[in-house]
Amino acid sequence: MKKQILVFGIVAGLAFACGGGEKATETVTETAAPEAAAPAPEISLEDKYKDDPIYIKGVEKVKGSDCMTCHMVDRKIIGPSYAEVAAKYENTEENVNMLAQKVIAGGAGVWGEVMMSPHPALSEEDAKDMVRYILLLKK
Ligand code: HEC
Repeated sequence: MKKQILVFGIVAGLAFACGGGEKATETVTETAAPEAAAPAPEISLEDKYKDDPIYIKGVEKVKGSDCMTCHMVDRKIIGPSYAEVAAKYENTEENVNMLAQKVIAGGAGVWGEVMMSPHPALSEEDAKDMVRYILLLKK
């Protein structure tokens, strides 16, 4: 610990010296960490919507099913990313119904030849909650 403070003191002293400062080392304290120069990181879609009740309800159901083996929020894997799906469809009751039926029945042809497996065990209500969560994830 002592050594770190000393090194920091020297570095800070040098920086100060280059800038033409005079009483550098006396003002250096252990808590004077340099400000991070990196730009603020982009907010992920998860962070953007994580407090929305629709998100909270939907993400729980999606994680409780097998959706995440084929879908990611922000990147296409086997199926389209949720962000892509959200960008394609307006968040209307009609689309929620249509997509919920598709999740239950499975199918292919909209995004490519790969087929989504059917989910006959899902209730319509659960499928709709999942779709509402997906359509929320607009960038
Ligand atoms: C076996 C992989 C797989 C699983 C598991 C899976 N999906 Fe899919 N999903 C796909 C594929 C592939 C497509 C693209 C289908 C197409 O092109 O019509 C798709 C498309 C979708 C679409 C968009 C449908 C459309 O017509 O645009 C939604 C919404 C969706 N999935 C939600 C879900 C949800 C919710 C679950 C979990 C209950 C789930 N998926 C599980 C592979 C999967």
